[in-house]
Amino acid sequence: MTLVKINQILEGKYTDQKVTIRGWVYRKREGKELIFILIRDSTGVIQSTIKKDNPSWSEAQKLTIESSLTLEGNVKPDTRAPGGFEIGADNLTITGLAETFPISKDKSEEFIRDMRHLWLRSRKMNLVMKVRAETMQAARDYFNKQNYTEVSPPMFISAAVEGGSTLFGLKYFDQQLYLTQSSQLYLEILMYSLENVYCIAPSFRAEKSRTIRHLTEYWHMEGEWAFANMDDLMKFEEGLMTYICQTIATKCEKEFKELGADIEKLKTIKTPFPRITYKEAIERLKPKNPQLDWGSDLGYEDEKVLAEDFGTPFFVYDYPTAIKAFYCKTYKDHPEVAMSVDMMVPRIGEISTGGAREDNKDLLIERMKAQGLKPEDYEWYLDLRRYGTVPHVGFGMGLERLLVWMLDLDNIIDAIPFPRTTRRFYP
Ligand code: 4AD
Ligand code: MG
Repeated sequence: MTLVKINQILEGKYTDQKVTIRGWVYRKREGKELIFILIRDSTGVIQSTIKKDNPSWSEAQKLTIESSLTLEGNVKPDTRAPGGFEIGADNLTITGLAETFPISKDKSEEFIRDMRHLWLRSRKMNLVMKVRAETMQAARDYFNKQNYTEVSPPMFISAAVEGGSTLFGLKYFDQQLYLTQSSQLYLEILMYSLENVYCIAPSFRAEKSRTIRHLTEYWHMEGEWAFANMDDLMKFEEGLMTYICQTIATKCEKEFKELGADIEKLKTIKTPFPRITYKEAIERLKPKNPQLDWGSDLGYEDEKVLAEDFGTPFFVYDYPTAIKAFYCKTYKDHPEVAMSVDMMVPRIGEISTGGAREDNKDLLIERMKAQGLKPEDYEWYLDLRRYGTVPHVGFGMGLERLLVWMLDLDNIIDAIPFPRTTRRFYP
């Protein structure tokens, strides 16, 4: 008998053949003469039936939800079965008989979240994790095709990257260290050796906001490269985004269908993306939010309103220097404006931030002081401007925010297997 995966059967490759499958009981219904068992493996769910005269009948009776098993039988097309195929069981062996599975249909969302370690077996999480893996792969492919080198930055760091308010501190032997908020500064170091670099790594934010777009630990796709400007940056980012959308649209059709997510919106993504300045964004938003003025930070609500107008990913660039991080390069004749750009998408708002980096050592020191940072904490970063400084750009895109948008997820916690939020860190 051939050991096969359930998706191969559902693709019609084993019709009228004897197969062996291994998996877990997904649902079970027992009749007088027949037991229906839905079995899942990593690739799908299939129905199997076992008849009363079968020697394995009593084993089948014992089966509980999530018991693991091996089943041998004959594949038949059956329009009544979910997926259109059924296995008529010849033989069934229980590998691990499950105790009463705590997750059932009547359980609350809160309870399911507490049972994350078991909920990850659900079809929903199985499918989301597959799309997540394909998305990371597509991002890597794009960076690699453009000759970027993947690098491995540290997670323990000694000085803040983004603002101190979202910095996680920790005791590192006798020292005060932090969890990294972004790998940017380390990518900048490596750029001087490799020129075009990227990483896909965790970032940490002591983020108290409870929204559908905030985690305290998320995965960050970041790139940094030398001899480049804002236009190069936006072109690269829209190219990356388009490549990811097109790749996912072809590779993940089945996953989107089963999840009920709209794959058509991915197919329509094309370069170039609309670009508006921050100034224009404020002008557009002002009638709806009169409190906004040039200099105000855009909130989640503002970004959502703005994104409704576009209906596709777009860029907002040239933000006020005062609301941006110390490393942002400013315009020589308008130092109040920083070369910073956000990509936004409908429903989520910001999914990436990038920009040109201040490459002049003295201006960088000024910016640090203006933000209350100690230049001596960033000696190594200043060295990058001392020894062969170069104009450069980079960006960071939140992987989970991208997935929330692509998959129409209700909440970012479903875009990552083990979400960390203010209240959730178990298991
Ligand atoms: O806008 P941020 O803070 O920018 C940076 O960290 C830059 N240093 C990146 C760079 O230039 N290399 O974060 C970048 C992106 C955001 O646009 C968002 O997608 C995601 O990271 N992000 C979060 N995702 C989930 N939960 C959070 N708490 C996030 N904070 C930021
Ligand atoms: Mg940002």
